[in-house]
Amino acid sequence: MKIQISKPMVGDEEKRAALEVLESGSIAQGTKVEKFETLFAEYIGVKYAVATSSGTTALHTLLLALGIKGGDEVITTPFTFIATANSILYCGAKPVFVDIEPKTFNINPEEIKEKISAKTKAVLVVHLYGQPCDMKAIQEICEDHNLFLIEDACQAHGAEYRGKKVGSFGHGVFSFYPTKNMTTGEGGMITTNDSNVAEKARLIRQHGSSRRYYHEILGYNYRMTDLEAAIGIEQLKKLDMFNDIRMRNAAMLSDRINVIEGVETPYVSKHVKHVFNQYTIRVLDGRDELKDFLEKKGISTGIYYPIPIHKQPLYRKFAVKLEEAEKASREVLSLPVHPGVGEREIEYILSCLEEWE
Ligand SMILES: Cc1ncc(COP(=O)(O)O)c(C=O)c1O
Repeated sequence: MKIQISKPMVGDEEKRAALEVLESGSIAQGTKVEKFETLFAEYIGVKYAVATSSGTTALHTLLLALGIKGGDEVITTPFTFIATANSILYCGAKPVFVDIEPKTFNINPEEIKEKISAKTKAVLVVHLYGQPCDMKAIQEICEDHNLFLIEDACQAHGAEYRGKKVGSFGHGVFSFYPTKNMTTGEGGMITTNDSNVAEKARLIRQHGSSRRYYHEILGYNYRMTDLEAAIGIEQLKKLDMFNDIRMRNAAMLSDRINVIEGVETPYVSKHVKHVFNQYTIRVLDGRDELKDFLEKKGISTGIYYPIPIHKQPLYRKFAVKLEEAEKASREVLSLPVHPGVGEREIEYILSCLEEWE
């Protein structure tokens, strides 16, 4: 049996929608992007959504729209995909890394407080693997210190904290890369309740231009195409169903992995809906051997992330010691839970894990 770590779930609906756009002759950003933005904003529960060409460009655009610039500091987590921190560098600002909570792998609110300085402008949190951060504590910190709250929800479409969707607490960013809970091939989205931020983001996405060949500010070509948006509209209709399957698969895995010695199953915080973009266990000893063993059995796995960002050569000048993130990078292993994984595959993964034990 071969089981991939991720698999885009694209059906006839997406194929028909894409073909319709191709046949219309109007492929670049247009009415489909507008419709996708409206539907996505409604789904997340915010007033505005701005589509971009990727999660990375959505992050960059949002930080620029918030006015983040050289001399500013942005507090963030080192245990994430590189794009989160790079977006801070793109703006000429300084990333200030704080450690994670060992249970959730998400940024530790207590440590955020300690790193706030006169230069701090924003806190950029990541809802890692699909699990919302401790939003009550983080929102309070941002309000008390007048900081922008930015949510990197690239792995958490549909995740909720106390019944409210992530991406609606501060200013949100989503990715539609094929490994995510829904996809458009490449694509991103900014969510916000601030009309000025949305308007500025739209300008930045389009070469700083609100009308043709008239440029008010420095912008980029960060547009999404109608082809991608048409696929996104169909994927959004299926998102809750996809997430239900991810959660079911995760529950089936945890039920039996729980009794395996030396392995910790994912902790799910109180008051959250964890949408399991990744199902990530901790292997206290022999993580890499287990990975090799599973690969030989045809089960592909992932290590997200093997090197925390503060340890990357690019970030050497921001060196700090963050023990929990460093420990997590040695122990984490993600197992397949995407909607293409059925009960038969789960049973196979479990039997291989029990054999390894
Ligand atoms: C946490 C996080 N932030 C940002 C990104 C960047 O998104 P994209 O790959 O669409 O540029 C990703 C996705 O890879 C991600 O997982």
